[in-house]
Amino acid sequence: MRISQRSIEVVRETANIVEVASEFTALRRQGARFAGLCPYPDHSEKTPSFGVTPDRGFYYCFGCQRGGDAIKLVMDLKSLSFSEAVSYIAERSGVELEFEGSPADAQAARERNKRRRMVHKALAAATAYYHKYLLRSGSTEARQARKYLENRGLNDSTIEEFRLGFAPPRGSSGFVGAARKLGIERQALDAAGLLSPRGGERFLGRITFPISDRRGRIVGFGARAMGDDHPKYLNSPETEIFTKRDLLYGFPQAAEAIRKQQSVLVVEGYTDVLMLYQAGIKNAVATLGTATTPAHLRSLSGYADKIHVLFDPDDAGEKAIERASAAAAELKLDLRVLRLPEDPADWLLENSAEDFSKLLANSIPALEYVFRRKTERARGAEAAERSRIVSEIKDLITEIEDPVFHGDAVRLASEALGVNPETLQQRRSPAASRSTRGPAPADPLQRAGHELLALLLSRPDLGEEPMKNGVGGPSLSEPFMLADEDFANEDQTRIFSLLKEHAGQDLDSLIADERARPMMDQIGALSSAGEKLYPSEAAIREAWLRVGILSHERAKRQTPDYDEKDRIQVETLRLKDALRAVATES
Ligand code: GTP
Ligand code: MN
Repeated sequence: MRISQRSIEVVRETANIVEVASEFTALRRQGARFAGLCPYPDHSEKTPSFGVTPDRGFYYCFGCQRGGDAIKLVMDLKSLSFSEAVSYIAERSGVELEFEGSPADAQAARERNKRRRMVHKALAAATAYYHKYLLRSGSTEARQARKYLENRGLNDSTIEEFRLGFAPPRGSSGFVGAARKLGIERQALDAAGLLSPRGGERFLGRITFPISDRRGRIVGFGARAMGDDHPKYLNSPETEIFTKRDLLYGFPQAAEAIRKQQSVLVVEGYTDVLMLYQAGIKNAVATLGTATTPAHLRSLSGYADKIHVLFDPDDAGEKAIERASAAAAELKLDLRVLRLPEDPADWLLENSAEDFSKLLANSIPALEYVFRRKTERARGAEAAERSRIVSEIKDLITEIEDPVFHGDAVRLASEALGVNPETLQQRRSPAASRSTRGPAPADPLQRAGHELLALLLSRPDLGEEPMKNGVGGPSLSEPFMLADEDFANEDQTRIFSLLKEHAGQDLDSLIADERARPMMDQIGALSSAGEKLYPSEAAIREAWLRVGILSHERAKRQTPDYDEKDRIQVETLRLKDALRAVATES
């Protein structure tokens, strides 16, 4: 299938050249344009001659005289084909691509787009309706809502900028009535998540906080009760366009400050974003009732290189910071954590923005925080627990690829644990054992296959489900099955095919199969390697999808047919989404 001409135009129009170019070089605003060092690898320079003009959507380098639009830049710098570059940008900016293929595909795509448009229209209309009702209605409830926001310290310009609203209480015809007059069908209201399970208005009598995606389109609401109603916040249900785990409240309003300062502050509450904004701290966003996930960091990494996270130090929060810290190291982000005695919104009622900035300056690197917490726990723990934590710390260190981070981590851990830095680098477990023990496959697909087979052989019980039914995901229309030929070489293919035949049986039954005999050494080595990889259902699903992705990428490289390349690319993106979903749920 080919990407439709219209989609290409939409991508051209909506691609934010500053955002795209920022991935490759740091840009600074200079009036209406941005400038930075030229990102082309064959043009290294010390003074910026690379310029980007957002209104016209193009870039130009006075030094090497190259220029073009966002698609061209991505093609050049990521060595992608035209349609790959279009897909890449579309994915990052939330554009749904249309493909020209069979008439049935085209029809399905048209219908999906039409449904989406109706949903967006319903959400935009609801936002306007609730906002106007909050500002203008003379009803007792609307007056109470205005009073409530005033008491929380929010002023009118903040309320307007963030389009806060109020959903009229039961008894008035509300937005459902207004929507009818606007020609918005009930079906669209329902698909937009605006109706309650009983069919009434979902947010009745609540203050509404519209939530936008990265392009600034409203995709859902958070809605706060004014009194002690439960729940305190009611969010839109997950819909096609409302996915809580990677959305960030306040993003469009904060985007410019984030980009300018190359730094972002992630908080937990909607009201915190508002009060910070009002205090002049405009680079804050909030997660939607979840901890900061690696998915959040990935989406922020295109805009900022420093991320402050304000978080609740409960057990779940600690675990989340650990995961975020590992993801940040990979993305080369400077992740810092900060704790306040109370929510920033409340804190700012008594303290100034300058005080807050001082706190920010004293935040500590997340990695250091995680290490400190772990070593604190190790100190008080019994021998067994202590050795477990020490080995966790060692594992954490081996996972850090960046040499600077790595050095810091070793120093911190050795100081905190009172051990010799060398012992921390010696016994390298999971991540490093892959490269130091046994044959170290250089080819990524071969490596991924090696890891998957190792996991499957060490825990055949966990492999039964994927072997028989494949691995599913929100982005996949059906569970993904691996085929024998997805593997990198004949040995791996053979072992996988045997494993499949013996799905659900233990290792002994596999070894008893005489076809396994010539591969006994490999099977033994794989299964003991697998034990060190911490086999779990999630680990197996991840490895499974990784093999699928890399095998697709190989197939794409190998086919000469461009339509086929595009088709494979679409599937690959779906698999990557599925992988991301597994990685964030675990
Ligand atoms: P205020 O009490 O108005 O200051 O709100 P807050 O944002 O400070 O609330 P809190 O610190 O209790 O919670 C932080 C975030 O968690 C909120 O912004 C919501 O995203 C989410 N949250 C809190 N309570 C609920 C709830 O009852 N249901 C859901 N779904 N999310 C909630
Ligand atoms: Mn609060």
